[in-house]
Amino acid sequence: MTITPPDLSVFETLESEVRSYCRSWPTVFHRAQGSHMYDEDGHTYLDFFAGAGSLNYGHNNPVLKRALIDYIERDGVTHGLDMSTTAKRAFLESLQRTILRPRDLPYKVMFPGPTGTNAVESALKLARKVKGRESIVSFTNAFHGMSLGSLAVTGNAFKRAGAGIPLVHGTPMPFDNYLDGRVPDFLWFERLLEDQGSGLNQPAAVIVETVQGEGGINVARAQWLRELADLCKRRDTLLIVDDIQMGCGRTGAFFSFEEAGIVPDIVTISKSISGYGLPMALTLFKPELDVWEPGEHNGTFRGNNPAFVTAAATLDTYWADGQMEKQTLARGEQVEEALRAICDEHRRSIVSVRGRGLVWGIKFADKERATKVCVRLRAGADRGDLGAAERGRQAAAGADHLDRATGRGPARPGPRHPGDRLIHPTGRAATAVAARGVEPGPVTDGPAVGHGAACLRRRAAPPRAGTPPSPSRGCSARRSWCRTAGWWTASRWWPGERGRRRGTGCTRRSR
Ligand SMILES: Cc1ncc(COP(=O)(O)O)c(C=O)c1O
Repeated sequence: MTITPPDLSVFETLESEVRSYCRSWPTVFHRAQGSHMYDEDGHTYLDFFAGAGSLNYGHNNPVLKRALIDYIERDGVTHGLDMSTTAKRAFLESLQRTILRPRDLPYKVMFPGPTGTNAVESALKLARKVKGRESIVSFTNAFHGMSLGSLAVTGNAFKRAGAGIPLVHGTPMPFDNYLDGRVPDFLWFERLLEDQGSGLNQPAAVIVETVQGEGGINVARAQWLRELADLCKRRDTLLIVDDIQMGCGRTGAFFSFEEAGIVPDIVTISKSISGYGLPMALTLFKPELDVWEPGEHNGTFRGNNPAFVTAAATLDTYWADGQMEKQTLARGEQVEEALRAICDEHRRSIVSVRGRGLVWGIKFADKERATKVCVRLRAGADRGDLGAAERGRQAAAGADHLDRATGRGPARPGPRHPGDRLIHPTGRAATAVAARGVEPGPVTDGPAVGHGAACLRRRAAPPRAGTPPSPSRGCSARRSWCRTAGWWTASRWWPGERGRRRGTGCTRRSR
């Protein structure tokens, strides 16, 4: 077995210190397919991170790749000004046909720029313009992006500090259950709104995530969301749902707010909307809010045509019927069941399991312990555990559609492909991939796959002949704790893979 240290010198000397995710995964990637990534030295990684939620359909999904290659080969427009193109038309028509019309959502569509934070900025700007007020209400532990407007409605102190100027016109309110149910929902918010002496300016809008991802898998109850929507209506305040991370089917339905039966005034979407990991974001809003002047919020990259192509193919392929939602919810149940079983085993250390659809996390009583495990997993990054320390509280959705992409049968647990390393769960992909339970098998042009799933399922089910009966008898268990909030997700794999380093539970492919 040879272990060659990756050449990271140009990243370490030339690239800014601000670089982030790559620090957790000290290797140089070269190729990716389905759930696998390959580094330049030929090592294989099982990717539980899924592009931070932008790869719900796997790396280089063959259906989407075909559409993209065809478009490029016929010299389709590639640059990104907001021209009318055939690619944009096809995307808008698909969105209308597969998503908006069936849900009776009459939203106008704005292309605010390629990233999630672009969508949030435009949503805030539009709300302020419509209402003629500057104040926005956000929630504790919210995350809405890194540009100044988005940071002003984001909770994380470290991220906020990076702004370098006062972050103004945002007022945080307690998210659902922030006060452990000891105070009636929205009591504080309503009181401040009523009281002329409270110091709260009448807000233009409230911005909310239905499930906080970056903030630690905090799930808002449907009832809480309904009450919030009602409050906004009564108080002449717009409701913005930031569905950048929880939209595109991650919680089951295409929009995460569908479960609550609410219709937000403005919705932001990004991450997996292009289906292919290409940068793309949408701001959707009720037609009566479309008060923009032409060009009032424009820019060079407002129409990423290649992303439109893959987005249209994604919607047409995976969202033309209700299967995606059903499968995601079914997988979500599997994940929940598996995580609850783990919790039952560790009652003393685990506080709660929280999640919806394919977004799950477990909260530990002892943050320190969670941190320690994160550190261990971070150290494990050079052994192939990617994503471990970064996003322990998130999980990506989507996956079963990938079965459909390749026409594979129902997902089935299976052994880990020998030689795989893990781009480890903790992450958004962790429980999602786990939930798929699809056969990791040989690397093919097939679906994104998840070994974690297989193991979680096996763990929940009675041991079968030929499989290790318990972790203590040979199953190597990996648990990933989030560095910030004591969350973890889990994956397990079975022994017998060659090249495992003692005590790490990870494998390296001998070359
Ligand atoms: C809910 C939410 N809003 C906004 C953003 C920002 O998106 P981006 O990183 O593409 O700017 C994120 C990113 O994780 C997010 O989770």
